Amino acid sequence: MINEKSKTKVKEKTRKNANINATLKIINSLRSIHGNFSPKDISESHLLQIIDASIKTANSSARQCYSIIVIDDREQMQELIGYQGSRALIYCVDFNRLRALAKHLGHEFSNEDIIGFITGTMDAMLAAQTAVIAAKSLGIDSLITNGMHRTNFTKVYELLHLPETSCFPLITIVLGYPKAEPPHKKGRLSREFVVHFGKYTPPDTTTLEGIVAEYDDNQKRIGLIDNWEQEGFRHYLDWFYVKWMGNPPATKVPEGKILEFQEQLKKSGFWW
Ligand SMILES: Cc1cc2nc3c(=O)[nH]c(=O)nc-3n(C[C@H](O)[C@H](O)[C@H](O)COP(=O)(O)O)c2cc1C
Repeated sequence: MINEKSKTKVKEKTRKNANINATLKIINSLRSIHGNFSPKDISESHLLQIIDASIKTANSSARQCYSIIVIDDREQMQELIGYQGSRALIYCVDFNRLRALAKHLGHEFSNEDIIGFITGTMDAMLAAQTAVIAAKSLGIDSLITNGMHRTNFTKVYELLHLPETSCFPLITIVLGYPKAEPPHKKGRLSREFVVHFGKYTPPDTTTLEGIVAEYDDNQKRIGLIDNWEQEGFRHYLDWFYVKWMGNPPATKVPEGKILEFQEQLKKSGFWW
């Protein structure tokens, strides 16, 4: 049964929505589909519109130092990234095109260093988010995922035929239609906790308590799970630090995934 409080909330939301433009409405309506996509495919024309919008995104020095690999084989998606939908767009930081162009014209070119990597990452991530918004404007849902990084780099490079140097697979956007509507939308921290006007202000105790309370607010649903209390934790963030993040390593010696990342970045030339 809907109580008075939820009725007021719905009214408030409707009033807020009435005052915003179509683009902001689309942004406000975004929510991730965590792999629960239906078998229905998106059309080729929608896919091309999404890609065209994505590559229209601002980019550093007009270089567009990324490549997008489009995957339509659902089994391959599952193997590569652990999720499947109608299509997956895999965004890679990539300097191979610029390098080949330089060679073609008889120039020297090298941008494989940490600055090149960060710049390429910014180009690729911004283009990826544009794809998400463009897709939603066409009624298509998405999941942003770094699932690829949880599989194994050798497999990813092999299956996608990625160049070993000057290329690093960064992020995937899975596109499709949801099987079912997610049970709720995720909230975000309030503006005052993440934005600093004029100068950076470290959080004081009141702010920290405010943030802990926002994460605990089961109306806002910011966190990854809802049942931290049943799991024996006082606050969501207690669960987060203990269960989700695990114990931090005692030393800073790279091992496991960190070592795999470092080795792959070295192989690709971005990390010396
Ligand atoms: C870089 C990045 C990686 C993510 N990877 C995953 C993922 O592997 N699996 C998943 O289910 N969601 C993933 N997400 C989606 C987040 O979990 C989701 O955006 C967040 O919980 C907020 O929910 P909302 O997008 O529905 O508002 C990822 C999001 C980002 C930005």
